[in-house]
Amino acid sequence: MLYTIIFVGLKTILMRILILNGPNLNLTGTREPEIYGHQTFDSLIKQLLKLFPKAEITYKQSNVEGELINILQAAYDDFDGIVFNPAAYSHTSIALADTIRSMNIPVIEVHLSNIFARESYRKNSFTAEVCQASLSGFGMDGYRMAIEYLLRNA
Ligand code: DQA
Repeated sequence: MLYTIIFVGLKTILMRILILNGPNLNLTGTREPEIYGHQTFDSLIKQLLKLFPKAEITYKQSNVEGELINILQAAYDDFDGIVFNPAAYSHTSIALADTIRSMNIPVIEVHLSNIFARESYRKNSFTAEVCQASLSGFGMDGYRMAIEYLLRNA
């Protein structure tokens, strides 16, 4: 009985956060490092797990639009908040925007680079329009900032 109560107590303090990355972000660390930096997501996730012991952090990445939609749709029951970098799909995908619009948990968009300071086709984000908030240009630090926001506000 006592154990049950302790277990439930521990569960309630753990916020379940999904970090979801879109196409080409699996190459981060070697892909255009002058724009996206040298750090890999493997190393970032290790840092975030240490930094946020009160968050249950799950990391997923896909290069496929439909897979990202399936992951988001399945996230309703399993997560309390999502940190999402849709990568190039931000600028093209009405489908992903529609999925985010239908979600009942907060989604924060993150971009490593400052999309407003780059090519004109990157300045619009269909997905950011329907996210609770968006961060752009803070590099890997944007993911930490988004998690801090979720822990405080979600
Ligand atoms: C990006 C910005 C996008 O424009 C680009 O297509 C990416 C990465 C970023 O994190 O800065 O793949 O989302």
